[in-house]
Amino acid sequence: MLVEKNVPLQHSNTFGIAARAHALVRVRSDGDVHALRADPLWGRQPVLVLGGGSNIVLTGDVEPVVLKMEIKGIRVVGETPAAWIVEAGAGERWHDLVAWTLDHDLPGLENLALIPGTVGAAPVQNIGAYGVELQDRFDSLDGIDLSTGQGFTLDAAQCAFSYRDSVFKHAPAGARGMGLAGRAVITRVRFALPKAWKPEIGYLDIERKRAEAGVDQPTARQIFDWVCEIRRAKLPDPQVLGNAGSFFKNPTVTAEQCADIIAREPRIVHYPLTDGSIKLAAGWLIDACGWKGKSMGKAGVYERQALVLVNRGDRNSNDASVTGGEVMTLARAIQTSVYERFGIRLEPEPVVV
Ligand code: EPU
Repeated sequence: MLVEKNVPLQHSNTFGIAARAHALVRVRSDGDVHALRADPLWGRQPVLVLGGGSNIVLTGDVEPVVLKMEIKGIRVVGETPAAWIVEAGAGERWHDLVAWTLDHDLPGLENLALIPGTVGAAPVQNIGAYGVELQDRFDSLDGIDLSTGQGFTLDAAQCAFSYRDSVFKHAPAGARGMGLAGRAVITRVRFALPKAWKPEIGYLDIERKRAEAGVDQPTARQIFDWVCEIRRAKLPDPQVLGNAGSFFKNPTVTAEQCADIIAREPRIVHYPLTDGSIKLAAGWLIDACGWKGKSMGKAGVYERQALVLVNRGDRNSNDASVTGGEVMTLARAIQTSVYERFGIRLEPEPVVV
């Protein structure tokens, strides 16, 4: 195990924020985690687990030891009557896994194409897009509890998935009981890919592509291509324009609250959920407050999707790039205007460190 010191993280977070890790360990096997724990100097320090850095805002240099997850490997490990079980190392790029499954005729992840980040980070925020969430295709995951050194396996119920949320986002003694944030490292994730695959085409953008193509029953490959096209048209490529995807979660309100808002704002974009509550499009709320295309300092609101905050500085430069402070100042200004106009508190989606 090698502990690297004073490591620049600018190319390890998709915003391109120029922060440094005081200490960084590359994790290529479970053994690297055990070696870190056994180390008399580094073994008891707090850690920050970093995957692709696509869902994080760094507001300064990172004091905890950064564990850069680089465990690789994708393979079919088994089957159930209903599904093929595919296992991937936490350090695999998410999109590479999606492409691999399609190349091996194992559809099911195509709606989640082109989501930035790594396999190990995907369960943390229960990634989702175009009508499919990770939890819909999840089998189980392996990890290591850093406080005990024990390996563990969790099923979906134990991961406590909900919209952009899981047990891995909550502090060990947080409001939702025993969380695993800062305490667990995810090393491998297994997916259950349905043998009786059906296309998920309910989402409006996909339905539009299907109608344009004049196809009734699209193949998984077609959906994959459409999702890639939709994302490329709507969302900025982090290699070109730094960002962390959607910056806020879509808020949910009660039917009464929604009726009240619709009375004032008839055009508000909203979706009824199965539990009777209503999900509001945060991008619409921010857009309606006039933020699209606006900037504060070097932090900006993307002109094609108001839910995405972007780096208007130079993402390759140490001192001309956006800072985490600038991103959070813009985020707070947006939260204030959405609250003042709609009475709704937007909750940031990325992890703020
Ligand atoms: N809208 C506006 N103005 C905007 C942006 C959006 O009016 O500037 C409206 C759109 O017209 C649309 C609605 O808001 O009617 C929803 O927009 P969109 O379809 O782009 O989806 P979203 O709710 O903004 C969510 C996810 C995305 C995911 C897409 C597709 C969250 C926080 N975001 O965005 O996930 O790709 O749906 O499923 O749930 C991410 O988490 O990083 C992410 C990109």
